[in-house]
Amino acid sequence: MSNYKSQHQLSIADPSQYWLEAAKTVHWDKFPSVGVNTSQSPFNKWFEDGQINACYNALDVHIDNGHGERIALIYDSPITDTKRHISYNELRDDVATFAGALAAEGVSKGDRVLVYMPMIPEAIVAVLACARLGAVHSVVFGGFASNELAVRIDDCQPEVIVSASCGIEPSRLVEYKPLLDQAIDMASHKIRSCILLQRPQVTAPLQANRDKNWHDVIANASPVSCTPVNSTDPLYILYTSGTTGQPKGVVRDTGGSVVSLKWSMKNIYDVEPGDVYWAASDIGWVVGHSYIIYGPLFHGCTTVLYEGKPVGTPDAGAFWRMIDEHKIKVLFTAPTAFRAIKKVDPQGDFLNQYDISSLQSLFLAGERCDPDTLAWAQDKLKVDVIDHWWQTETGWSICANCMGIEKLPVVSGSPSVAVPGYDLQVLSNDGTPLKTGDIGALVIKLPLPPGTFINLWNAPDRYKSAYFEKFPGYYETGDAGYIDENGYAFVMARTDDVINVAGHRLSTGAIEEALAGHPDVAECAVMGAHDELKGQLPIGLVILNDGSSKDHQAIEKELVARVRETIGPVAAFKSVAIVSKLPKTRSGKILRGTMRAIADSNDWKMPATIEDPSALNEVSDALQKLGYAKS
Ligand code: COA
Ligand code: AMP
Repeated sequence: MSNYKSQHQLSIADPSQYWLEAAKTVHWDKFPSVGVNTSQSPFNKWFEDGQINACYNALDVHIDNGHGERIALIYDSPITDTKRHISYNELRDDVATFAGALAAEGVSKGDRVLVYMPMIPEAIVAVLACARLGAVHSVVFGGFASNELAVRIDDCQPEVIVSASCGIEPSRLVEYKPLLDQAIDMASHKIRSCILLQRPQVTAPLQANRDKNWHDVIANASPVSCTPVNSTDPLYILYTSGTTGQPKGVVRDTGGSVVSLKWSMKNIYDVEPGDVYWAASDIGWVVGHSYIIYGPLFHGCTTVLYEGKPVGTPDAGAFWRMIDEHKIKVLFTAPTAFRAIKKVDPQGDFLNQYDISSLQSLFLAGERCDPDTLAWAQDKLKVDVIDHWWQTETGWSICANCMGIEKLPVVSGSPSVAVPGYDLQVLSNDGTPLKTGDIGALVIKLPLPPGTFINLWNAPDRYKSAYFEKFPGYYETGDAGYIDENGYAFVMARTDDVINVAGHRLSTGAIEEALAGHPDVAECAVMGAHDELKGQLPIGLVILNDGSSKDHQAIEKELVARVRETIGPVAAFKSVAIVSKLPKTRSGKILRGTMRAIADSNDWKMPATIEDPSALNEVSDALQKLGYAKS
């Protein structure tokens, strides 16, 4: 039997034994005597009686093992022309001091701290400082607007918010403080204080008695040591899009995260301590949590924090420059980043300027990897290009070619096979197991492996109903697909209203809520249509209230602005059209699937249940005007 198969079988036959073995490779304050307790499934508990600290495992353990001088973090910011190399010793000292500053603000074990920061080392310091105290961080991506921030403040109820004066996008400075002030005003929960890092580009005004300058608080702080927590205590909350406007607060535990992420670094990515590992994502996403911050540091690697884009900072050779300069061994990014590079430099001419021989493999995730992008990356980089599939909920990959266990053949269009720990199956809508090759719901038989989500913050009922009720005994991934005769999974589409824009997960429901809030809108529908660069882009169709006499173009502009203001620029919402009716079934359900097929110029059939077929003609015309539905 192949090495991969035997590992996978072992992990499914006896999950507790398999992961207790892996648990031996990390530092515990008290080693657990049990693997997984499934008595309250789906609220499964990993390493229940273990005690651990994630920050200790990220930093102190390496110093204690004599590697304090090793570079923990390379910060490379073409956008500000800054580079920094920070050793494990330095990062630990910075984190211990900032943890002292948070403690002085009254933060202790179990308290929440919201981090709203750009891609700067202080963001990682803030996150690890929370982990050091056993406090629970919740990082909010910088591309979200005040409203989204306010919703998260009210849900996780932080004691303290840590932020910076600005983020920097190639075309503009994003001033965080006005967004933050507005969010704090909008939220009903009142925070104790806000610690703000003033960046040289913008000095934000501070509000007396609430806002504190980062440099002042650390100047007065004393370093603190790590507080051991229970393995099952939450390490963080990360909000992600669901089907409604209310985001889901994915809760990750501490022990499971340390064990699974550390395990994944060798077994999936095949890196060793001391190797340079770069996840070109953002700390606001799950990829950033797992593979900019925690995974590489748990494994004693050098992690890379890149404040720039794949193109335009300054050119499409940016990634190759990074690999060359920092001797990067593994790069992890989303296919959309490669599509952006390929669009600007289809021949890969920029590669001629750099030596990328340090690169061992490229891992892609966040969205389906189209075969063209895979082939281009393989051809130009001449390294292993590995598509792997995962979600905010799982925290690490469900399917991957586990390069450190056994390199399997790459099959274009598939993120490979189920990773040890994941018993992946395909079920029909009524829960019947499907035959090899048949498309259905991709589900994972419980228990999920360590490091996956243990709950939704403040919403245990939603945790159960959204993920575990439809298929009892299984976790419903929300993705549809099939498994072929060799065990390779193919992830085809979401089964819900979640869309994927440039590797960012968005809810069409949330965009609809934003549109519906416009005073002239009576009804609306949002769907994701195919986009060459970003994978999908949201399109809105709206019906106006009777008697609305405003100019349509003016309303469309207002609607675009409204989504940007309520959700944020990251929604990339630019296309909206006003129609007089939306296609619906006789029972009143909007036919989004049919509209999406029309927008993407795919084959479609007139649904038998449609109430008024002429609505589809009107929608088709509107989509054509927006540049879709070309044939
Ligand atoms: N703060 C504020 N605004 C942000 C932001 C941030 N952190 N990140 C993105 N935005 C803004 C962008 O400036 C853009 O604004 P605009 O409408 O004024 O142009 C908007 O949000 C949309 O951003 P994005 O979809 O990222 O488009 P882009 O044109 O800036 O970049 C790519 C396109 C493909 C280069 C970029 O999306 C990319 O690198 N994606 C990689 C995906 C990724 O990291 N995924 C995470 C999972 S691995
Ligand atoms: P997120 O929670 O933001 O990481 O988004 C997770 C979703 O992105 C998944 O449910 C999939 O729909 C999609 N996704 C992520 N990685 C892949 C992949 N390799 N192939 C196909 N879809 C993917």
